[in-house]
Amino acid sequence: MFCACKLNAQVTIVVKSKDNALALKTDKDSLLYISYFGAALKEDSLYKRVSDEYRLSDANNSMTNNAYTPAGTWNLLEPALEIEQADGNHSVELKYVSHSTKTEKQNVFLTSVVLKDPVYPVEVILNYRVYFNENIIEQWSVIKNNNPKKAIRLDKYASANLYFARDKFFLRQYHGGWAGEMKPEEHELTAGIKTLDSKLGTRANLFQPPSFVLAFNKPSDEDNGEVLLGTLAWTGNFKIDFEKDGFNNLRLIAGINPYASQYLLAAKSSFETPAFIYAYSQHGVGTASRNMHRWARNYKIPDGNGSRQTLLNNWEATYFDFDESKLTGLFKGAKELGVDLFLLDDGWFGNKYPRNDDRAGLGDWQENRKKLPNGIPFLVNEAEKAGIKFGIWVEPEMVNPKSELYEKHRDWVIRQPDRKEYYFRNQLVLDLTNPDVQQYVFSILDTLLTKNPKLAFIKWDCNAVMYNAHSAYLQKKNIPQSHIYVEYVKGLYQVLERFRKKYPDIHMMLCSGGGGRADYKALSYFTEFWPSDNTDPYERIFIQWENSYFFPAITSCNHVTDWSKTSIKFRTDVAMMGKAGFDIVVDKLSANDKSFAVAALKDYASVNKIIWHGDMYRLVNPWKNSTASLMYASADRSSAVIFNYLTDRRYNNNSSIDPVKLKGLDPAKNYQLKEINLYPGQNAVFSANKVLSGDFLMNVGVNVRLSQSHPSVVIEVQQVP
Ligand code: DGJ
Repeated sequence: MFCACKLNAQVTIVVKSKDNALALKTDKDSLLYISYFGAALKEDSLYKRVSDEYRLSDANNSMTNNAYTPAGTWNLLEPALEIEQADGNHSVELKYVSHSTKTEKQNVFLTSVVLKDPVYPVEVILNYRVYFNENIIEQWSVIKNNNPKKAIRLDKYASANLYFARDKFFLRQYHGGWAGEMKPEEHELTAGIKTLDSKLGTRANLFQPPSFVLAFNKPSDEDNGEVLLGTLAWTGNFKIDFEKDGFNNLRLIAGINPYASQYLLAAKSSFETPAFIYAYSQHGVGTASRNMHRWARNYKIPDGNGSRQTLLNNWEATYFDFDESKLTGLFKGAKELGVDLFLLDDGWFGNKYPRNDDRAGLGDWQENRKKLPNGIPFLVNEAEKAGIKFGIWVEPEMVNPKSELYEKHRDWVIRQPDRKEYYFRNQLVLDLTNPDVQQYVFSILDTLLTKNPKLAFIKWDCNAVMYNAHSAYLQKKNIPQSHIYVEYVKGLYQVLERFRKKYPDIHMMLCSGGGGRADYKALSYFTEFWPSDNTDPYERIFIQWENSYFFPAITSCNHVTDWSKTSIKFRTDVAMMGKAGFDIVVDKLSANDKSFAVAALKDYASVNKIIWHGDMYRLVNPWKNSTASLMYASADRSSAVIFNYLTDRRYNNNSSIDPVKLKGLDPAKNYQLKEINLYPGQNAVFSANKVLSGDFLMNVGVNVRLSQSHPSVVIEVQQVP
């Protein structure tokens, strides 16, 4: 523990990973500011001298680059922290008190910096958790109200506040909606504040996710230049501000959205913000992505280095229209295909209000007696007899007004008591701020798993945003309504935490009618997520491409469906860049399509470990070319698999004449290249198995010969002695 309280000596704190460093420094008044963010310096003693080389001096100095900008004193900029003190005073100031760094486990270090208000009993701890080898930082703050008797009100409580001194800044941000997720836009930041935010309450990133790429000095590039990938680990409203200041530098403030969320912090209690996670690289966005993927697999995603189950889902195959015999008929197809499990989707529950479409039944989690007279246990059993496992869909946070749950427990529903109800997909959100509702949601899953211990998979869906955000529970408990957005998310985590304690191993898909929920806190409970309901492979290439900046392939559930008229080969090739699944009626496939799918799943089994655990390289960008190429290489560089697609279907538009340069191989080794996933009767693009050196493959490349008649080519690369 280091303390500068008495001497007011200037203190420098260095938060360092293998390649990078963030330095913090105190000024003569013990205010803490960010003095450096960039490549790690060779000598630690030099960090304290960095600030001498910058002349950020004006009346607002030490606030512009403050490490956690407080509001209400002499700060004129966007704050990270805003407080109404117990006496109504609206100011807070933070002075450095001490800091410490501890080793949490091998490769993981936590630096905590304690700041205190000299006038009011408020303390803030800034936490920086470094994953050394992966060059990842998780940053969050803890705000403490040390007033022994009175509450304070937090009006803004960001997770992280960063500062970058560079010439120019380019932001790659995302927008979209159902079936059109992750649409990128990259642009230069201009003076003033650019905000990315959500006010949706739940499935909060439907229109905009809390993930972005920030490139310094020039637009983002795969292999060159300074970039920062950032993402907030919070499954609710978020706000990320990018403020280009008077020095043309960039202030970044990321955290929970303070919109309608003033938070009363009781006497002697503390508030812990979610983590803002960032990967900084001096070698382009490819390196930053690979670091983030490795970190996610090693530290965040349950079973991140394990394997995943292929599946046949019945959503698009049947929608709500099924019964026992239809389903057991599909089991046969699943077995023939060779997938690991059958996933029963929406529509299996509700009796008074049967779930025969999306207008009724949500909330009543009893098997529909007409469709499934023998219940789920019968299906689990039949699946086992057919030689496959069984998984099930739930949407436990939601309710249709046409349900017994709504009739019995209107007080459990988020709604304004005296206003008209508004519905999103004909449904409302249950009030997870209420512990009884938390218990109810937990019991839906617990009951299913207790009755069916052989259930092997859960798809947890979430299809509505919060309208009329009002909680009867908070009102009853005299808790301000402005807690609803935060307490909802905490309630959700409470349920997921409890669920994971009891069922640590079951694989679970995070679904939200698409990618409306993928963030790294939710993904600490889920093995995978559903990027979009849009399974047209031409759309998926782009959606999966953009998700690949932030999430490893092992988390991406990609299904082959009948959404588009493209060949089954094209659809399957796209689905394989992650965890592949099918959502089709196998019996309706032609003989050739079926034998292709069976063989493709076998090919997939031989390369899926490389896709799930390997390093991902984006080789050819479909936004800039008429093709896309992505490659996954094993960590020891002995094997790889490359996916290539013709993305522009205009007449006579064939593959670019240039070869695709591979990455991540050993220049000194020789590799054999073989096209896999061939459709019956289709000729491979290479006449024979090709052997080329890593040096050749990475410097010259290989022409993958995409054409309108052969628009996707999957190549397996194997080291040869
Ligand atoms: C939305 C999901 O994204 C779909 O896959 C499906 O599960 C439906 N919900 C079911 O209602």
